Order: sequence, then C-alpha cells, then structure tokens
Amino acid sequence: MIDAVVPRAEDFDEIAGLLALAFHGGVDPELREIERPIFEPERALLVRDGGAAVAHAGAFSRELTVPGATVPAAHVTMVSVAPTHRRRGLLTGLMRRQLREIRDAGREPVAVLWASEGRIYPRFGYGLAAQRYTLSCDTSELRLPEPASVAGTLRLDRPAAHQAELARLYERVRVDRPGWSRRDERWWAYVLADVTGLRGGATERRVLLHEGRDGLDGYALYRTKEEWDRTGPRGEVRVDEVVAGNPAAYQALWRLLLSIDLTRRLSFDRAAVDEPLLWLVNEPRQLGAHVSDALWLRVVDVPAALAARRYAVDVDVVFEVTDDLLPENTGRWRLVGGPTGAQCAASDAPARLGCDVRVLGELYLGGSGLGALAAAGRVRELVPGTVAEVAPAFGWHRAPAPMEVF
Ligand SMILES: CC(C)(COP(=O)(O)OP(=O)(O)OC[C@H]1O[C@@H](n2cnc3c(N)ncnc32)[C@H](O)[C@@H]1OP(=O)(O)O)[C@@H](O)C(=O)NCCC(=O)NCCS
Repeated sequence: MIDAVVPRAEDFDEIAGLLALAFHGGVDPELREIERPIFEPERALLVRDGGAAVAHAGAFSRELTVPGATVPAAHVTMVSVAPTHRRRGLLTGLMRRQLREIRDAGREPVAVLWASEGRIYPRFGYGLAAQRYTLSCDTSELRLPEPASVAGTLRLDRPAAHQAELARLYERVRVDRPGWSRRDERWWAYVLADVTGLRGGATERRVLLHEGRDGLDGYALYRTKEEWDRTGPRGEVRVDEVVAGNPAAYQALWRLLLSIDLTRRLSFDRAAVDEPLLWLVNEPRQLGAHVSDALWLRVVDVPAALAARRYAVDVDVVFEVTDDLLPENTGRWRLVGGPTGAQCAASDAPARLGCDVRVLGELYLGGSGLGALAAAGRVRELVPGTVAEVAPAFGWHRAPAPMEVF
C-alpha cells in the first residue's frame, strides 16, 4: 500500500493544480469555484512528496442507472500523477486502496469512470460498459420527418433560470437510461455552469425548452459558433445534452437544432449508440457518427452488483469469476434473475461460464454482448450452449448512454 492521506477541503486548490499539470490545462479560477462544491475530500486519496502533492484519486458519491434499477456507485474522478512521479506505481497503489475502501464500506457495489486513455484501467478490473457516438455533420444534408401535428411549443432561455424544471424532467427520464447518474442541486449547478474559458470560441450556453400539454417535456443544452467563408454562413451548433420525455419533444428539439439559420454544421459528443436520431434522419451516414468509449465500470462486489440490476429475460447460471485485486469476488456465483428482480450467491454447483471480473463490468449496463465477449475469448463457455442461452438476459431495451463527463 502506498502512503496516501485523506486530504482536507482546503487542499482542493493544490489538487486542482496537480490536475492542471497532469492534463496540460491552465488553472481556470472560474472552473475551480464550480468544481469546489462537488469535491468530496473525505473520499479522496492524496500522495505527497516533500510536502508537494504528486498523486491524487477521488470519487463522487452518486447514483447510477443500471438495467431496471438505480444503484449507488463510486464515480471515480480527478486521477492524476505528477509528470515527475509517473510510472513508479502511484496510480496502482491509489487504485488498489480506493477499490479496497469502496468494497469495505459496503455501500457501492460498482465503481465507474471516464478514462483519459482506455488502456489505463482494465488492469484494475474496469471494463468498457458504455460506448458513445460523437456526431459531426453537415446539417444541409439531413432532414427529419415533418411532424404529424404540432403538439408543443419551443422557447429559448438561460439554463440557470430553469434549473428546478430541468432537474424534474431529468429525474423522470434518467431512471430508464442505464449510464445516467443522479444530479443533486450541487451537480445541477456544476452541469449548468458555463465557464467562459471553456466555451471554445462559441456563445454562452442556451437551453431550448419544449413544452407539451403537461408542461416541460424536453430540453436541449447547446451553444453556437459564428463562422463565415467565401460562400456565406458556416456557423456551428454544439449540442451538450438532449433530454426528452416523449418522441414528439425529441423530434421537435432536433428539428430546430438541425435547422438554425446561419449554421451549417452540428456536433454532439455524447450521443448514445442507440440515439433515436439515427432512426429519424433521411441519411444516417451523414451524421458522421464515430464510436468511442464512455463509461468504464468495475464490479466491486459481485453478488451485490449482479443482484442489483434486472435482466431482460429469466436467467439461471453459475459463473466462475476471478479477481486478483478483490479476492472476495473470486469464486463460483449463481445468478437467478429476470425482469422483476435477481439474487446472486456463492454456489458449489458446476460453473457454466468462466471470466475475469472485468467481463462483469463490461456486461453490467447491457451494452456489451456476452456472445461477442465469448467470441473474443474473454468469456469461457464451460458448458456448450450456455452463451446463446444466457446472452439475451444481459441485454437491455436501451443501450447504456453517457451523460456528463465527471
Ligand atoms: C495515467 C496516470 C495516472 C498513470 O499514473 P502512474 O503512477 O504513472 O501509473 P503506474 O506507475 O501505477 O502504472 C501502472 C501501469 O499502468 C501503465 N500505465 C499507466 N499509465 C498509462 C498510460 N497512460 N498508457 C498506458 N499504460 C499506462 C504503466 O506502464 C504501468 O504498467 P506496468 O506495470 O506494466 O509497467 C498518469 O500517467 C497521469 O496522471 N496521466 C495524466 C492524467 C491522466 O490521464 N489521468 C487519468 C485520468 S482518467
């Protein structure tokens, strides 16, 4: 174990400085004040050398939507090692200790994170649980179907003026979207903060509100960037998030986003891989969808995690799991579950599937196919036919989707 300490709230500035160093960013005073309230010092681990901060890993206590349920999940964040101290095992020590602490606390069966580089975390048992599309398109190439009837109204405003309303809608929608995290008031303030230094030359952020018969049923957060060339306007729409409670609201928001005057391009970095837009536009290829990793998930407590989610169809299977970092997870586990609930306990019965704990992270949100993992050789089929039998249970009717980067 490395010599890490739990920092105090006052150490936040020093930790923010370390992060700026590791991520090659400047220290933005406005951003620092927005991040300070969400920092949880009691969950952080800090390594000092000669008094100076040289390595840090933190976690936020948030709830994550998983197939059919929500679970408390450690949202791992602010991982950084000073360039002078890299490749000496500091990250390894921090990850080991953090996972041990999460496990021993017994509240959170899983941990999730966004990785700066995908190759960093698999060695600690994190699996790629949710992918995303980044969309980048020429809006003049895309058409959406005309609405059958106009069912709602659209208006624009400053996002902060609508925080409570947005939160109510998000709270309603998020329980059906694996991969979305709960936002309390502090998180809403963080998400809606519009740091001047991070606008990338674009306007302030706007909220597009869709109101149906029963009030707000959709919103989009976006900004625009002015641009002209010899042929005329070439402005860009940069979408941050779109949340809709029904298809009419979703279509109305996208219809407007794709047709704002003087803009010709649109980008959206955190679209779901089952983004409904793909099934609405007249030329899906023109969305310029590029697949990328989003959430990485680590199963910290195998039986608690497997029992916490729901399964698309009934399943009864024994897994043989190995976990080098948290040996309590190593062993044979029988999962009996279905659409309304699940149980998981140690078992002496012969295992039908064998895998490393990382595979469970990959399967957990329903975004990776058991068949594909078996074809890759990452899942061992100990009894022939088990993969085909069990795979549908681990899927879900919606793909896990990314929301904000934390
Ligand atoms: C990523 C980072 C935290 C790694 O810290 P570190 O203390 O150097 O990592 P460790 O010494 O514990 O490395 C453990 C292993 O992971 C490997 N590794 C670490 N970072 C890696 C990277 N970026 N790419 C590939 N391998 C990496 C190391 O080579 C080592 O492998 P080995 O045991 O086979 O030699 C550090 O490089 C850093 O701060 N980078 C910039 C900020 C960042 O990307 N943070 C992660 C945010 S999600």
